[in-house]
Amino acid sequence: MKRTPSFERLFTSPKQWNLFFIFVIFVLAVFSIRTVDTRRKIDFSIEYGLFGTRKDLSHGSLEVTLKTLVKKDGPQDPVAVPDIEEICPHAHYQAERSLVGSSNGTASAEEHIRVLQGAGSRQRIALYTGAYNHIRDGVSMTLNRMVKYLLAQGHEVLVLAPTNSHPVINHAGKLSPVPSLQIPGRGDYQLSTFLTKELKEELEEFRPTVVHIATPDPVGWQVQKWAVQHEIAIACSFHTHFTSYMSYYGLGFLENYAWDLTRKFYNQCHHTYVPSYGIADELRHHGVKHGLLLWTRGVDTDVYSPRKKCPALRQKLKIKNDEPVVLLACRLVWEKGLQVYVDVIKRLEAQGIKHKSVVAGDGPARAKMQQLLPNTIFLGAQKPEQLSCTYASSDVYIFPSRTETFGVTIAEAMASGLPVVVANASGPAMMVQHGVNGYMAPPTDSKVFFDYAKELVTDSELRQRMSKSGREIAVQTFHWSEVFNNLVNYYDVLAEAISPR
Ligand SMILES: *[C@@H]1O[C@H](CO)[C@@H](O)[C@H](O)[C@H]1NC(C)=O
Ligand SMILES: *[C@@H]1O[C@H](CO)[C@@H](O)[C@H](O)[C@H]1NC(C)=O
Repeated sequence: MKRTPSFERLFTSPKQWNLFFIFVIFVLAVFSIRTVDTRRKIDFSIEYGLFGTRKDLSHGSLEVTLKTLVKKDGPQDPVAVPDIEEICPHAHYQAERSLVGSSNGTASAEEHIRVLQGAGSRQRIALYTGAYNHIRDGVSMTLNRMVKYLLAQGHEVLVLAPTNSHPVINHAGKLSPVPSLQIPGRGDYQLSTFLTKELKEELEEFRPTVVHIATPDPVGWQVQKWAVQHEIAIACSFHTHFTSYMSYYGLGFLENYAWDLTRKFYNQCHHTYVPSYGIADELRHHGVKHGLLLWTRGVDTDVYSPRKKCPALRQKLKIKNDEPVVLLACRLVWEKGLQVYVDVIKRLEAQGIKHKSVVAGDGPARAKMQQLLPNTIFLGAQKPEQLSCTYASSDVYIFPSRTETFGVTIAEAMASGLPVVVANASGPAMMVQHGVNGYMAPPTDSKVFFDYAKELVTDSELRQRMSKSGREIAVQTFHWSEVFNNLVNYYDVLAEAISPR
């Protein structure tokens, strides 16, 4: 094996320094803007000074901001949020069993082992990800589940990822922490800094057959470089659409630069796994030439299921039987299209259409949203076992985000039997069959979103029909064992073709 270059030598060329710093500044910029909370004056002035043109500032005028400054907390919930695990038997059952924070999904994985054993080779997979156990989001949950599945199938996995002192996920597999910086003001984000000499030695000792890189951050690049030097197969998975976040934050002028980086990064991966055809087209359009493969995300259709319906939950939340529940579940950040959701609910209210709006999830936009929607029930962040009851006990799912690469929550809602109204954007468009299990609306068109929402809220037969179709699509397409099986096949092909044995 070749000698690993020392840390000093890795960054000697000016170009790489350049790339690295611009990337760090960009990431810091994006995350520090996202920390903005109108209740904090300092953040506000920084934001206003630097990013005066930002969209959601225009409706958060100085007056509103000062008012919220005085009021320490957002408006109180009209209904206290119940402890779902106490009142919903399924949630309780699920919580007791959760390993990776969710289901007993291993059963289906084990079934597959029996079928597959001997079919493929054992792989040694080194996974690098920017999110593994310190934050609970779609990426970290998927990767934990993936590692759990790979280990159950007899593959070896070494995970390299940043971590912190209070991990929120009981992670799967062996984790080697990568040094990282905390993003200012965001306790839950860590930016990896360097692939240290020790980590490189660990990689060399592990002798991976496949290096899987899930995050194209500075360490992602270093891991890629390491793999190139050692002639090991590089599999990359595309999870976060950084470039589309940029135009949202008024950083559009960096977009070309970001695409250059993106192209360069993914062109050095032997495979790039994308969650939807739309993303594949977009990457191809921007010059990612080869190795694009579809790897959809899955959803645990046993956890997210109409059987999780919990009448006691509706009762506790004081929702009447004849009030269809309109649900939104995601991290509450404005770029998820929250303003559209707010508009839809306001229109439903203005027209006196009987419904109850429920929002699950937490985030910087929550306080403002609670102000705008005083009649909505905000449940806060929920664990999967609680969320599954929330979905199944709702009636319509509205999710206007257009930055999703896949839209895990849409798949979860479908599996739970909810008709959906989503933005017509690449991720969602792959899951939703317009008019069959829900509707797609132009991403920012609140009026169209409202029309579809109204149709579903007022027509229970339509809801039932779409609920059934959505569940069927979810079960057929997004079952985890299918999803990971595909991945292992990809690894096999790749390792066979490229990695030294
Ligand atoms: C979860 O556990 C229950 C009870 O043992 C079982 O009926 C169900 O099939 C399991 N689901 C999965 C995915 O293993
Ligand atoms: C979604 O967008 C695509 C491409 O812009 C368009 O062809 C399609 O008709 C749209 N679908 C719906 C339901 O609006």
